[in-house]
This record gives sequence, structure tokens and C-alpha cells, in this order.
Amino acid sequence: MPKDWYEWHDLYNTEPTLQQRLEIVQEYIAYSLNASPDGAIRVVSVCAGDGRDLLGTLKNHPRAKDVSARLVEINSNLVERGRATIESLGLAKQIEFINAIPLPIYEGELISELPFL
Ligand SMILES: C[S@@+](CC[C@H](N)C(=O)[O-])C[C@H]1O[C@@H](n2cnc3c(N)ncnc32)[C@H](O)[C@@H]1O
Repeated sequence: MPKDWYEWHDLYNTEPTLQQRLEIVQEYIAYSLNASPDGAIRVVSVCAGDGRDLLGTLKNHPRAKDVSARLVEINSNLVERGRATIESLGLAKQIEFINAIPLPIYEGELISELPFL
């Protein structure tokens, strides 16, 4: 097991169990989005990694434009990669990727219809 969370994410490329876990998480996210009433859907993801669970789901989801999200992650390399993905998906106006340092990111509104950790 890598000591570094950035390296840990490389295991998604080789570990079938981790890939299956991601698929299941994405299915749950898609299910939750499908089940959400019309209108805005607020998402908070803490310990978000590079956000591939949520961002990978939004990539092809019809409710993507309804989602506003705050993803919180402590590893700045993962935050950088997550932000690049957000840009590439054209979701920068609605999805915020926050580096958990400094701590004040936990201040402010964290209300969410879809919180996950
Ligand atoms: C097991 S990984 C899971 C990442 C992602 N949720 C996924 O399933 O792919 C745990 C993540 O939590 C992050 N983390 C650990 N402590 C944290 C903290 N205090 N605040 C925010 N993120 C943290 C790590 O950097 C790591 O990326």
C-alpha cells in the first residue's frame, strides 16, 4: 500500500477491486442524482481524492448542470488534478475543488443534498 495518497490513486489503473468499488460508488451517485427532485443539487465530498467518483459520473449525466459541488481534499496534487478535470468538463462555474489546507475551507455553507465521505 503506498504511503502517499497521490500514489494510492495510481492503483485505480491496476487493481480490479478498486475499479469495481469506483463503479459501484459512481452507480450510487448516478442513482442519487436521478432520484433528486428537479432543480439544484448540492454535493459535498470530503476526502475527495481527485474527485473521479463524482466527476466521472457527471461527465455523462443529464443532471450535471444542476449540480453545484464542493470537493475537499488535503493532497494538493490531487486537488490540482481534480481542478484540471473540472476545467476539461466545463464545470468550473459550479464545482469547487478545495485544498483542505488552510482549515478555513471548512467554514461557510456545507449544506448538501448529497454529502459523501
Ligand atoms: C482512500 S482516499 C479516497 C479518495 C476518494 N474519495 C476515492 O474514493 O477515490 C482518502 C483521501 O482522503 C484524503 N484526506 C485525508 N485526510 C484528509 C483531510 N483531513 N481533509 C481532506 N482530505 C483528506 C487523502 O488525501 C485521500 O486522497
